[in-house]
Amino acid sequence: MLITFEGIDGSGKSTQIELLQQYLRDKSYEVQVFREPGGTDVSEMIRGMLLNPEIEIDPVTELLLFSSARSQLVAEKLLPLLKKDVVVILDRFFDSTTAYQGFGRKSMPIEEIKQINEIATHNLTPDVTFYLRLSLEEAAERTKRFEKDRMELSGDSFFKRVFDGFEQIAKTEERFKTIDAGQGVQEIHEEIVSNLENRLL
Ligand code: TYD
Repeated sequence: MLITFEGIDGSGKSTQIELLQQYLRDKSYEVQVFREPGGTDVSEMIRGMLLNPEIEIDPVTELLLFSSARSQLVAEKLLPLLKKDVVVILDRFFDSTTAYQGFGRKSMPIEEIKQINEIATHNLTPDVTFYLRLSLEEAAERTKRFEKDRMELSGDSFFKRVFDGFEQIAKTEERFKTIDAGQGVQEIHEEIVSNLENRLL
C-alpha cells in the first residue's frame, strides 16, 4: 500500500508521517518512509542541487531533476517494497510536481507535466493521498523562523499558485483526502487513521 502526504511547506506533513508510522508499526505493519526529493543515493544528490539557494536552475531543468530523483526512488525502492507488501509512506510525490512546477513555476502545460509524471513514477499511483490543507498565512507564520531553501525563496505569488494548484488537484482526484491542517496534531492524526481503517486489513 502506498500512502502519500502533500501540502505546502509548513503544513505539518513530517509530524503526521511520524505519528502514522508509529501507529502502523504498533499494529505490526512493516512500514517504510521516504521523502521526496530523496530516498536513494542518486535522489539525495539531486535534492542537494534542487534545494541549494546558490544554484540557478532553469524551470524545465528543475522539473526534470525532480522527476529524475523520483524515477530512481520508484525503481530502486518503492516497486520492490510494494511487491513485498510493505506499507510505504511518502513525504510528497508527483502531485508536488504538478503543484510546484506546473501551477507554481508554469514550466510546462499541466497536461504535459502529467505525462512526465507518468514516466517518472513508472505509472505508480498512491492508494491514498492526505492533503494537509493550511492557509498561506498560517504556513508563512509557521516557517518564518527557518532558513529558506531554494524552493522556499520563490516568493508569495509563487506559493499562492502552488496553493491553488493543490486545491485544483484535490477537486479532481478521488484519492485526495483533504485534511484541515489548522487543527491540533492529535485531531489530524485521528482523522488520518479513521480514513485508513477500512483500507487496511
Ligand atoms: P523539503 O525540505 O522536503 O520541504 P517540505 O518539508 O515542505 O516537504 O523540500 C522539498 C521542497 O521541494 C519543497 O519546497 C517542495 C519542493 N518540491 C517541488 O517543488 N517539486 C516536487 O516534485 C517535490 C517532490 C518537492
